[in-house]
Amino acid sequence: MLTHHPREIQERFGGTVCTSDNIGEVVELSKERDVYILGGQSVFEQFMSRPELRTLYVTHVHDNLTGPRGDRFFPHFSEDRWSKIKAEFHAQGPQNTHALSFEVWIRK
Ligand SMILES: NC(=O)c1ccc[n+]([C@@H]2O[C@H](COP(=O)([O-])OP(=O)(O)OC[C@H]3O[C@@H](n4cnc5c(N)ncnc54)[C@H](OP(=O)(O)O)[C@@H]3O)[C@@H](O)[C@H]2O)c1
Repeated sequence: MLTHHPREIQERFGGTVCTSDNIGEVVELSKERDVYILGGQSVFEQFMSRPELRTLYVTHVHDNLTGPRGDRFFPHFSEDRWSKIKAEFHAQGPQNTHALSFEVWIRK
């Protein structure tokens, strides 16, 4: 867990959670094991420029969720720098309240 309060988190969860207050430390960890960045928005933004970030797993929700329905978003990224290698469309239905596209992008 990336947090400015690692000691408090350790105390709250009895040492069962791995914490860091340093993005560079998280990047170092990625040399030993796979690290997945789950957000929120500013965390995504801080990691997007890091060359160690190799793959984006993106779910596009096909609806306009700006305004009160959504105020945090994945950062824009350039197709000049990323290649889409997978795209799956899932229609709205019993399992999906919204139509969505799941995409995988890799850094060029
Ligand atoms: N998949 C999803 O749907 C998804 C994923 C992620 C987030 N969200 C939602 O998005 C909202 C949060 O997004 P956000 O953009 O407001 O959050 P954010 O700015 O990305 O930050 C989330 C937390 O990460 C920690 N953090 C960020 N940068 C850090 C750094 N450089 N060093 C150490 N810790 C750092 C801070 O934790 P501390 O306050 O503990 O220091 C901060 O409160 C929430 O409503 C959440 O539910 C949704």
